[in-house]
Amino acid sequence: MDLSYKSAIDVTEFHQRRETLGAQLQNNSALLLFSNQEQRRNSSNTYPFRQDSYFWYLTGFNEPDSALLIQNKASSIISTLFLRPSDPLLETWNGRRLGVENAPAKLQLDAAFSIDDIATELPKLLSGATALYHAPDLQPWGDQIEQTALCYLREHTRQGFNVPNTLIDWRPLLDEMRLFKSPAEIALIQQAGQISALGHIRAMKTARANRFEYELESELLHEFNRFGARFPSYNSIVASGENACILHYTENESLLRDGDLVMIDAGAEFAMYAGDISRTFPVNGRFTPEQRAIYDIVLRAEKRAIELYVPGNSIKQANLEVLRIMLSGLVELGILQGDVEQLIKEKAYLPFYMHGLGHWLGLDVHDVGDYGCERDRTFEPNMVLTVEPGLYLSEKLDIPERYKGIGVRIEDNILITETGNKILTAAVPKEPEDIERLMQSSEPSHAPTTL
Ligand code: GLY
Ligand code: MN
Ligand code: MN
Repeated sequence: MDLSYKSAIDVTEFHQRRETLGAQLQNNSALLLFSNQEQRRNSSNTYPFRQDSYFWYLTGFNEPDSALLIQNKASSIISTLFLRPSDPLLETWNGRRLGVENAPAKLQLDAAFSIDDIATELPKLLSGATALYHAPDLQPWGDQIEQTALCYLREHTRQGFNVPNTLIDWRPLLDEMRLFKSPAEIALIQQAGQISALGHIRAMKTARANRFEYELESELLHEFNRFGARFPSYNSIVASGENACILHYTENESLLRDGDLVMIDAGAEFAMYAGDISRTFPVNGRFTPEQRAIYDIVLRAEKRAIELYVPGNSIKQANLEVLRIMLSGLVELGILQGDVEQLIKEKAYLPFYMHGLGHWLGLDVHDVGDYGCERDRTFEPNMVLTVEPGLYLSEKLDIPERYKGIGVRIEDNILITETGNKILTAAVPKEPEDIERLMQSSEPSHAPTTL
C-alpha cells in the first residue's frame, strides 16, 4: 500500500474537478478560493497543518497561504494558483515548498504566481469578469484579499479596469460535487474506515477497569498512526459511564470503572478522508442485563437503518424506523409509557436520543452536501454517510435507577451503491457476543503498564 498523499488521488482527477466546476460557471466569470493558514497554538508552535477541504478537493495542494482562481473564458477553463515562493532559508527551518516554478506542471495548472504578488496580479485577472464566485467568511484572510482587489477595480475604472457586477456563492456547486464520491475517493474512505476499525479493535482489546479514558485514546491513535493515518478525523470521544451521555465528550480523563460501559466515537483521517465509528462495550468485558437490553435496542435500530440505506430512501425514512424500534424498546423495558406513534409525535425520544441518524462523510467528518428538507434527500449511488443511532440514559433523567448512566451509540460508515449499500466499517465487532469474545482474547502485550 502506497500511503503518500501524492499517489492517493491522481493529479488528473483534481484537474478534472476544476474543469467540471468551471463548466458550471457563467461564461466570462471567475471563481476564487483560499487555502487554510497555519494556526498558532502557543509561543512559536502551530497546530499541525490541515488543508481546507474545498481547497484540497480542487488542487490536491497541501500548503498554507495559497489561493486558486478558476476562470471560465469563452468556455475555456483557466486555473491559476497563488502560492508561497521558494525560500531556501525558511525551507531549511520549516519544511519544503513546491515553489511557483514547479506548480503548473506538478498540479496541471495554467499559471502560478507568488502569493506575495496577489495584490497586483489578482485585479488584472479579475478585471472584465462579469461575475465573481466566492465564499464569504470561509477564509477571513482571503476575504480581505478579495475586497482589496474589488476596491482596486472600482477605483480604477477610468484606467480601463472593470469590476464584476455579480457576486455568487460557490458553495452550493462544490458541495453537490463533493457529495458524490469518485472511485478513488471511495477507496480512501474505505481505507480510513478500515484503519478506524483497527483502532477500535485495539481499544476494545486493551480496555480494563482502572485504566483512564485517555489510555484508550492512546491505543486508538497508536493504531491510526501505524497505518499512515497521522491524525484522527475529529477529536476522539472516549466516554465511560455517564460521560457517554455527553454527545461530544472529549475530556477523556475519567477512570474506567468496573461495571460501566465505555462508548468510543473515533475515526482516522487517511489521505484527507474521514472515518467515523462508534462502538460501546463493557469495561470489564461482560454486559450486565440492563446494559445488554439497551444495547440490543440500539443495535436492532442500527441494523434496520442500514437495511433502509438504499437508493430511493432517505435519512428521514430510516430515522422514523429507528424511532419506532427504540421507543418500542424503551416502552417494553418500562422506561417510557404510552403508544409508540403518539410518543413519536410528542418527540418523547428527545431526552434519550437528541441527535440525527447520520451525516455525509468525506473530506470532512460532517461532510458538505444538501440534506433536503428534514433530511429527506433520497440516497443515490456513491453517496457516503454514517448511521449512528444512540440511547443516552443519563442519571439526570427520571427513569428506573438500574438504567442510569447507560449511554450507547453504534456508528458505521455506509456507501450507497447501485443496488443497496456497503458497510465500510464492518471489521469492528458490534454483536455483543463478538465484543465479549474479542475482549476475552486481549493480548498480554496490551496489558496496562505503569511508569
Ligand atoms: N463523531 C461525530 C459524529 O459522529 O457525528
Ligand atoms: Mn462519530
Ligand atoms: Mn458521525
